Amino acid sequence: MIGRRLLIAGNWKMNLDLYGSYQLAKMVAEGTKSFENIDVLISPSFISLGVIGQKLKDTELLIAAQNCHYEESGAFTGEISLDMIRSTGVNWVIIGHSERRALFGESDEIVAKKIKYALLNRFHVIGCVGESLEQRENREQEEVVQKQLDTILRDLSEGELENLVIAYEPVWAIGTGKTATPEQAEEMHEFIRKIVSKIAGEDRGKSILILYGGSVSLRNAEELLNQTDIDGALIGGASLEAESFNGIAAIAEDISKEQG
Ligand code: 13P
Repeated sequence: MIGRRLLIAGNWKMNLDLYGSYQLAKMVAEGTKSFENIDVLISPSFISLGVIGQKLKDTELLIAAQNCHYEESGAFTGEISLDMIRSTGVNWVIIGHSERRALFGESDEIVAKKIKYALLNRFHVIGCVGESLEQRENREQEEVVQKQLDTILRDLSEGELENLVIAYEPVWAIGTGKTATPEQAEEMHEFIRKIVSKIAGEDRGKSILILYGGSVSLRNAEELLNQTDIDGALIGGASLEAESFNGIAAIAEDISKEQG
């Protein structure tokens, strides 16, 4: 992290009912409210967004949806539009998570279309990229991530790019307890920054936030967040308990304060 404000984000995936989500959201808001040098975000299920978005609207906590559709409205049974999300008071969305790509057939093109649409509609977007185990074993990780990024970035204006955060989540490190080493993560983050610079200009390359995701925990957060090009974390499992998530946020706050 160099002069950028760290962002600690929790992706709750398909966990917690309405009651459990609201309880956890309150604990996170309470436990992180004194942190002035970082941003903290949670991403509950669609069902809980309304209650959490409304009840916590006067806190500093950022709230994101985990997905959205790229049309305004219409015959898309089971889908959620950006207007629906916005009506809950939420203006962040995670797009292109590897689980959406692998389990729900979202191609690079669909992910790029959603990201473009959300940015055009003034949402803040966490756009996810990352390679599979097989791709890493074949040493194709840079090629894969470059293609994902090219597709996302090629149509975005300077204004749209301002609200884009990239999350690098190597698929082999998600929910497996296997984290990329700080060196592996830093190497890829540096590569991502280079690509963003090439496509969107050096200033954007320097300022864009790049989060790391994949088995981030209290144990490894400090080492990861201390890397030059890692600007925060997108956390799955460890975001489901206030103790571990707030603890990681506290580590980030300390690092930000020291470097700030
Ligand atoms: P885990 O932290 O459970 O590995 O999940 C990472 C992730 O997918 C966050 O989006």
